[in-house]
Amino acid sequence: MSTLDPSEKKVIGITGGVLALFIFSILYAMGRNNELPACLPYDKAYLEPKVLQLDEKTFQVYAVAQMWQFQPYQINIPAGSEVDFFVTSKDVVHGFNISEKNVNLTAIYGNINKTTVKFEKPGIYKITCHEYCGVGHQAMQAEVIVNEVSIK
Ligand code: CUA
Repeated sequence: MSTLDPSEKKVIGITGGVLALFIFSILYAMGRNNELPACLPYDKAYLEPKVLQLDEKTFQVYAVAQMWQFQPYQINIPAGSEVDFFVTSKDVVHGFNISEKNVNLTAIYGNINKTTVKFEKPGIYKITCHEYCGVGHQAMQAEVIVNEVSIK
């Protein structure tokens, strides 16, 4: 193998630099757009679907997936709310994807995945299952309804 001349070394250096920058920017974007989901200790209490309101614009959703539905099915919140999602499953592995929100969790029995999402814009955000889980997979949906905040 021939040794590299200086111009080749330069090209390799630039390529490496560009690649490093590329990887860095992907990681940076991921870190900014989506808080990394945290795994929490499992507790049976998470199998109880519910929406808790902590204050005016802070909510906790205990989302339970099972063949072939999500509970709660509808989550109503005011615009500007911050929501902690705790996601688990009663049976097989399901997906938990929130449209427009870059949320892509899995719902697994005996496991709780958590993420926090801020909903600024009013609208309907579909929650869908993105893990094939049987004949009813396509129908597995829920929604977050973000309501306009009225100014009094
Ligand atoms: Cu649940 Cu697919």
